[in-house]
Amino acid sequence: MIRTENRQETITRVSSIAEMKGISASLLKQNLTIGFVPTMGCLHEGHLKLIKRSLESCDRTVVSIFVNPTQFGPNEDLDSYPRELDSDIGKLEAAGVDILFHPTVEEMYPAGYKTYVEVQNISEHLCGKSRPDLFKGVTTVVLKLFNIVRPHNAFFGEKDWQQLAVIEALVKDLNLDVAIIRVPLVRESDGLAMSSRNRYLSSQERQTALSLSQSLKEAQDNIRRGTTSAKAISDSIRQCLAEKEACEIDYISICDPESFKEKEQIRGRTLIALAVKVGPSRLIDNCIIEEF
Ligand code: PAJ
Repeated sequence: MIRTENRQETITRVSSIAEMKGISASLLKQNLTIGFVPTMGCLHEGHLKLIKRSLESCDRTVVSIFVNPTQFGPNEDLDSYPRELDSDIGKLEAAGVDILFHPTVEEMYPAGYKTYVEVQNISEHLCGKSRPDLFKGVTTVVLKLFNIVRPHNAFFGEKDWQQLAVIEALVKDLNLDVAIIRVPLVRESDGLAMSSRNRYLSSQERQTALSLSQSLKEAQDNIRRGTTSAKAISDSIRQCLAEKEACEIDYISICDPESFKEKEQIRGRTLIALAVKVGPSRLIDNCIIEEF
């Protein structure tokens, strides 16, 4: 354990699973509530919103930073995924986080590792279609982290709407003793959904990336004005994105926010979710159309 004492705020840094388990056992023995925010680091205001929610509602907050290799496909950005541990630690200390858990890959997946956990069905839609390894890797690492940290509450962002649904199913189906707390999507002032992958964007690509949130906004306006055809809405989003040269659409989905079944008519609560490759970054964004 490294205890960083030279700032006003202090954070306990832990990289060993045994040590993290020991700290959690001691917190539980003292009847303290543990809030947990799992991340892959390169922290931004979206992550900090989750952390703030945990700090407000739990006695102790644990944040994990672990770029989880099992959720990246063979041709994805595992090697280039941004890693900024020193600046992340500064942000965690400034926020008042109690414990940082940042294990190595060898600690989490030692040689001979062979166990995976998978949520069926809802993992197969949207992001699961184009990234078949994603959710199996996410559920496996999140279950491992829950077993290590043993949180009362775990905080996840609605930016990754499908990931949240998959984790809620994991917790329900496997009877895990943790409450999953949803936190709304945090955007930049110009509407871009905050993401660690925004770091890859050139200033021109960043401009292009704005078309995700703009097309969602336009869709919401059209629905408010009376359009109910999912195809009409999806065509208008496609057109808005197609105007931009560097956009490569992975999917535009207009679906049920729980089952992820595609809808033909926008009736009842509806999720509109996008995944678009802009330059080197695969970006996602979404909005919910409430029942009206
Ligand atoms: P990461 O992308 O680092 O995100 C960590 C958490 O922050 C997730 O719950 C994500 O939904 C949330 N988050 C990211 N950007 C956000 C935004 N703009 N607004 C609100 N919340 C946001 O998601 C992962 O890491 C990994 O898959 C993980 C769950 C840690 C498993 O490896």
